[in-house]
Amino acid sequence: MTLISKAKKENNLNREELVKILSFTDYDAELFYAANEARREFVGDEIHLRGLIEFSNTCARACKYCGLRVQNKKLERYELEPETIVEFARKAVDCGYKTIVLQSGEGVYTFEKLIQAVRKIKEFNVDITLSTGEKTYEEYAALKKAGADRYLLRIETTDEKLYEKMHPGMNFQNRVRCLHNIKELGYELGCGCLVGLPEQTIESLANDILFFKEIGADMVGIGPFIPNPDTPLKDATNDNFTLALKVMALTRLMLPDINIPATTAMEVLNPQGRIIALQSGANVIMPNVTESDYQKKYEIYPGKISISENLSEYRSQICKKIAAIGRSVSDTPGKSKRFTPK
Ligand code: 5AD
Repeated sequence: MTLISKAKKENNLNREELVKILSFTDYDAELFYAANEARREFVGDEIHLRGLIEFSNTCARACKYCGLRVQNKKLERYELEPETIVEFARKAVDCGYKTIVLQSGEGVYTFEKLIQAVRKIKEFNVDITLSTGEKTYEEYAALKKAGADRYLLRIETTDEKLYEKMHPGMNFQNRVRCLHNIKELGYELGCGCLVGLPEQTIESLANDILFFKEIGADMVGIGPFIPNPDTPLKDATNDNFTLALKVMALTRLMLPDINIPATTAMEVLNPQGRIIALQSGANVIMPNVTESDYQKKYEIYPGKISISENLSEYRSQICKKIAAIGRSVSDTPGKSKRFTPK
C-alpha cells in the first residue's frame, strides 16, 4: 500500500491518511512489518525492561473504565509505605532492572511519602519513571528534583467530549496542562491512549496519534480497553487487540525514535500479545515487580497476567522469549532516543 510506504519514508501522515490505514484491514500485515522495520532502524534491536511497582491502588477518581475508581467498593485498598516500595525497588535493581516505574491510583497517596520513595530509589543509581496522575506544576517540579526522570500520563483519548464522559469531574484542558508542565520541567514525557472505548471513533484515534507528535512525547503506551466487570463499562466489547496494535504501529511510523512498550493489556487479550507487539513496533516491556499479593489487588482490568513469585525467574523467562525472536535485552536505562535533556 503506497500510504504505508509513504509513512515509512516520511514519518508524517495527515489525519485522512491515518484514518484510511486504520479503516482498511487488508494491509495490516504490511503495516506491522513496516513498523517493525522502523523500530529496527531508529531504536535498534535492544529491548528495555522496566520494573513496575504498583505501590497503591487508592484512588480519588471516577474513570468509567478503571477498576481502581473510587466507587468500586469490591476492591481491597492498599498503600505501601516508602520503605516497602524501596525494598521492592532494591530487589528489582538486584535482578538487573535499570529503570523503576512507580504507579498508583490518583489523588490519595501522601505526596511526601512518594517524594521519600523517589529519593531513596534514586540512590540505587537507576532511572525513575512515575505514573501517578495529574499533579500541580509545583508537585511535578518537586518530584523531578527528588530524582524522577520520566513521567507517564496518557491522554487516554483526544476526543474532548468522550474524555469528559469517561472521566467525570475531570477536565481535558487540565490534562493537557499537565503534559505541558511535565515536558517543560525536563522529564521524558510518556503519553498514550486507550483503544476501543465505547463511542471512540477511528477519526479520534488518528487525532490521538497526531497529538502524541504535537505534544512531543518521548514514549507512548497504547492499550486496548478491557471491560472491567466492576465498572459502568462492564458490558462493552472486548475485541480491541488488532486495532490497538495498529494504533501502536502507526505511532512507531509517525514518531520512529521514541520508546514504545508492549503493554500488559495486549497480553491479556492475546497470550502472545506482547511478543506480537514487539514485532510490530514496540521496544519496551514493563514487567511487574510488585509482590503478588498487592499485584492481585491492583485490578485496573480483569485477567492481568499473574507472575511467578520469583523475580529473577520471571525476568529470565522474559529474556528467553526475547532471545527467541532474535532480540536482546538492553543493559542501559534505555532513555528515549528522541529525548534531549534540558
Ligand atoms: N482497560 C485497559 N486499560 C485500562 N486502563 C485503565 N483501565 C483500563 C481498562 N479497563 C489504563 C489507562 C491508564 C493505565 C494506567 O491503565 O489507560 O492510563
